[in-house]
Amino acid sequence: MIRVLGIESSCDETSVAIVTDNKNIIAHEIYSQIEVHRPFGGVVPEVAARSHMDYLDNMISRIMAQTKLTYNDIDAIAVTAGPGLIGGVIVGVMYAKAIAAASYKPIIAVNHLEGHALTVRLTNEVDFPFLLMLVSGGHCQLLIVYNVGKYKILGSTMDDAAVECFDKVAKMLGLGYPGGQVIEQRAKKGNHNRFKFPKPLSDRPGCDFSFSGLKAAVKRQVDEIRELTEEDINDICASLQHTISEVLQSRMINAFKIHAGETPEVKTIVLAGGVAANQYIRDKLTLSAKEHGFDFVAPPINLCGDNAAMIAWAGIERYKLGLTDNINFVPRSRWSLDQL
Ligand code: KG4
Ligand code: ZN
Repeated sequence: MIRVLGIESSCDETSVAIVTDNKNIIAHEIYSQIEVHRPFGGVVPEVAARSHMDYLDNMISRIMAQTKLTYNDIDAIAVTAGPGLIGGVIVGVMYAKAIAAASYKPIIAVNHLEGHALTVRLTNEVDFPFLLMLVSGGHCQLLIVYNVGKYKILGSTMDDAAVECFDKVAKMLGLGYPGGQVIEQRAKKGNHNRFKFPKPLSDRPGCDFSFSGLKAAVKRQVDEIRELTEEDINDICASLQHTISEVLQSRMINAFKIHAGETPEVKTIVLAGGVAANQYIRDKLTLSAKEHGFDFVAPPINLCGDNAAMIAWAGIERYKLGLTDNINFVPRSRWSLDQL
């Protein structure tokens, strides 16, 4: 059995996990820094890095104690090496390197986005190749995943990520930070037909995304109403969430068309990243995928956000292919999946 220790610290979650190659998460801790950043209305990189430093050491000791494992029982250390907020990435990488060096274990520099991409292979049975819609904090992309480390980007956002719409609109509406979850909750009580927001690019071919026009349109609407009632807020949330889901759906259908020529054997679409936790979007895309003859798969909600189990799992996938890294690898703030 292969056991890998995973470490994640690229944004505002500090997380450690031990995962086995038979798909068992034997230990997992996630510490969310949301409360630390909330007063600032967003993640403050320097504060995030310090907080990772404060927590990581104890969290690693705790899961080792919990599982009664020693580093002799661990086959490799996997750590997010980017992309992300560089201070936090450096903190995780330094811990991982120290453990790897002291215990003579191989280290695996995991691309955080590959962690999101491969999570469904930990929690479900998903074979390569598959289509991937990655909707995370900083990314909104459609890709073909041919194999571990082999990605082709079909389209990306030309401006903001979808998350930006959730987070910035939540701020505009006084709903605090982060926006996704609270908008989903408020949307349940709202009427998604009340406001007709634009769906940027959705009548065009291709898989690129654009969200800045949508964000601006919501801002205009909010300014126009001025004194928002609770009902207005619920309706704006519902209309925004609905519009985002329609944009994602239109891009996904275009990806089906592109793939038909390229990889007709692909019959699975995977949704991953923080926004995959949104049940409304999951339901809408599931239906639409089914209509086009595709299976829709998303990780369980608790593994959609940032976590170390996905990093440990990506580490296992790489380790099994002999893809370990030299300990001198450099942490990276930017790192596209097609550069792997
Ligand atoms: O992938 P992720 O955990 O972080 C990065 O890799 O950057 O994504 C975090 C984002 C948050 O900004 C949050 O607003 C969004 O995912 N999110 C959601 C939901 N839960 C989290 N967005 C929409 N609906 C949700 N239920
Ligand atoms: Zn992420």
